[in-house]
Amino acid sequence: MNTLEGHSDIANGILDIYARITWWSVILFILVQGLLIYVVMRYRVKGTEQGNPEQVHGNTRLEVAWTIVPVFILLHIAIPTVAFVFKSQAPAVEDAVIVQATGKQWWFHFEYPELGVVTANEMHVPLGQQVEVRLASDNVIHSLWAPQLFAKRDMIPGRINRITFRAEKLGMYLGQCAEYCGDSHALMKFRVFVDTPEDFLKWVDAQKSPAVTTAEDPGFVAFSQAGCVACHTVGGTPAAGTQGPDLTHVGSRTRIASGILDTNADNMHRWLVDPPAVKPGSKMPNLNLTAENAQTISNWLLTLK
Ligand code: CUA
Repeated sequence: MNTLEGHSDIANGILDIYARITWWSVILFILVQGLLIYVVMRYRVKGTEQGNPEQVHGNTRLEVAWTIVPVFILLHIAIPTVAFVFKSQAPAVEDAVIVQATGKQWWFHFEYPELGVVTANEMHVPLGQQVEVRLASDNVIHSLWAPQLFAKRDMIPGRINRITFRAEKLGMYLGQCAEYCGDSHALMKFRVFVDTPEDFLKWVDAQKSPAVTTAEDPGFVAFSQAGCVACHTVGGTPAAGTQGPDLTHVGSRTRIASGILDTNADNMHRWLVDPPAVKPGSKMPNLNLTAENAQTISNWLLTLK
């Protein structure tokens, strides 16, 4: 989450503006404090001096100078800032990967409409290619923020915002909802994986394929009987709910419950047994699963790679 280390055109653009503001602040601080110290030392009462020194009023040249100089400093900061705001939300100019990101309470739905991929909480993007993220919400206001890749931008009901960026370094980047959105705002995390173009295509192929399971699998039967199908989709099975995250390839994600728990058997079990205990206010209720059912469903979900 280090904002001082950019790995995309947008993150580096922000750093550039940040550097301008910082250096002007440093220069002005030194200048003002330096002048202050100089005046205090130079005009302090010395020896036997008494009364007020000579009083001076007005100096047109000085006043014009200290009006014009700040205007130039502010323009030097404002012009790139405004240009950058427009650039970062402009539509992609070339063949871009489009991602529709929707803020939920409390997780992120990521959809790639042109690639036929639906996933949650883990976004994959190819290195060096433009990515246009369209931000939406069907509930309260959230904000998508992955500091090393792009700035905070709000996800507002009834409006599509946009972030267009180009990742410059392979790796995994942490993200977080950046607009207070309710009980589990602080637990609304996500990850962005910057892959090589080949790895990205492999990921797309894997995500597009139906789940590696069948409706007869004992895991699916338990999942179905517990009522999970009302809210979740598992591609290739009758489960087609849309309230919760798509679980078709949940086992392939590095984390569960929107980035707060590593994907493993213990955590999956813990989550299924009592979701609101893990994530306060969770829309996923405590289904009062028996330990055995929770185990069966948990093991089965982890096989959905
Ligand atoms: Cu979503 Cu804060």
